[in-house]
Amino acid sequence: MKRFLSRAIEKIAGLDKEQILSFLTALAADNELLKMVFDSMLDGVIVTGSQHKILLYNKSAKRMIPFVKGDASEKLIWEMISDREIAGFFKEKLVNQEKVKDHEITLDNGLVRTLSCTLMPLVLEGTIRGNVLHIEDVTDKRAKEARLRRAENLAALTTLAAGVAHEIKNPLASIGIHLQLIKREMEGKKKIDTKPIQKCHDILTEEVDRLNRIVVDFLFAVRPMDTRLRINDLNRVIRDLLDFLKFELDQGGIEVELNLSRYIPEIELDEKYMKQALLNIVKNAISAMPRGGKLIIETLQQDDELQLKVTDTGTGIPDDIIGKIFEPYFTTKDFGSGLGLTLVYKIVKDHNGYIAIKSKEGEGTTFTLSFPIPRGEKRLIGFKGETI
Ligand SMILES: Nc1ncnc2c1ncn2[C@@H]1O[C@H](COP(=O)(O)OP(=O)(O)O)[C@@H](O)[C@H]1O
Ligand SMILES: [Mg+2]
Repeated sequence: MKRFLSRAIEKIAGLDKEQILSFLTALAADNELLKMVFDSMLDGVIVTGSQHKILLYNKSAKRMIPFVKGDASEKLIWEMISDREIAGFFKEKLVNQEKVKDHEITLDNGLVRTLSCTLMPLVLEGTIRGNVLHIEDVTDKRAKEARLRRAENLAALTTLAAGVAHEIKNPLASIGIHLQLIKREMEGKKKIDTKPIQKCHDILTEEVDRLNRIVVDFLFAVRPMDTRLRINDLNRVIRDLLDFLKFELDQGGIEVELNLSRYIPEIELDEKYMKQALLNIVKNAISAMPRGGKLIIETLQQDDELQLKVTDTGTGIPDDIIGKIFEPYFTTKDFGSGLGLTLVYKIVKDHNGYIAIKSKEGEGTTFTLSFPIPRGEKRLIGFKGETI
């Protein structure tokens, strides 16, 4: 179209009336088509010129943004918008020539809507000629996400509650039986032999302790954590923890290999919780290697993430249970609490990270924790692979 247009313009002096008319008709039809497409878009688009006056906007933009009445070509874009927050936001960003990506603004015109705004420069032949504002109404999307999150939380809580109920059943049954035994021992007797009663008493105390532990663990799993993130060196946190575990690792015949990248940037972490998460993972690794083995701990930078990998040469996790290991109370151990990895999951989530697992039965397991690198720390990108 562009080439056709410039060729036609070059030749316009030589065209007859008929030819000019058909050229203009074709141009008008094209224009109409583009306008139709522009107006049928669900997202709002506003195009401004270099002087911040509105050149073009589509129907969706008009529907989403409250405009004042008047001639748009005369006024600056922020003078055309009646909502003060949006007008102020556009003014600040346009005057300072800042790029904006998916900035969310809440608009309350009786109906509360969340608008996601993106501002890009309009570049024509290498120079900036204005700006393109893209506005998406994300109200329904956000509401759906919140519903999903609530459903997820509810599902997690249901699993947890079911776990607690199951755990509490056994000690309660045992307490019931022993109380009956005490009653029978005492029934119709004037003189009581304290020996069997003492035995029942010991069992009752033990079961009450067990119940107490279940409740304490439960509270530990559901209570919100008071994570306080501070810029810190993950390598140092790892070394500190390994010092603490040295004796236990030596006793278990476990050789430790540390591959900590020297050039990784610091990340935001809560030292106490990060150590707790790492401790839970390493403890699991130790129990997976009852006859000794090798524990490899690695840190490395992967694009804008920092990865911490913990590998063991233990039993591995069977495929059919790998999906369950983060569930509260899931354990394959006789005296396991099944809460270790639940807590790891919670801690990593509080650090805005995520976990991946690779495991092969009989060969071993790798837990990879990925954490975001804060903006100011990214200057170190590029130094990869060297280890201390
Ligand atoms: N490194 C590992 N190797 C093999 N199995 C593991 C490993 N880490 C976790 N698991 C499995 O995940 C289960 C849940 O772990 P966790 O939540 O820490 O609870 P617990 O250690 O009390 O059993 C363990 O019982 C075990 O079956
Ligand atoms: Mg554990």
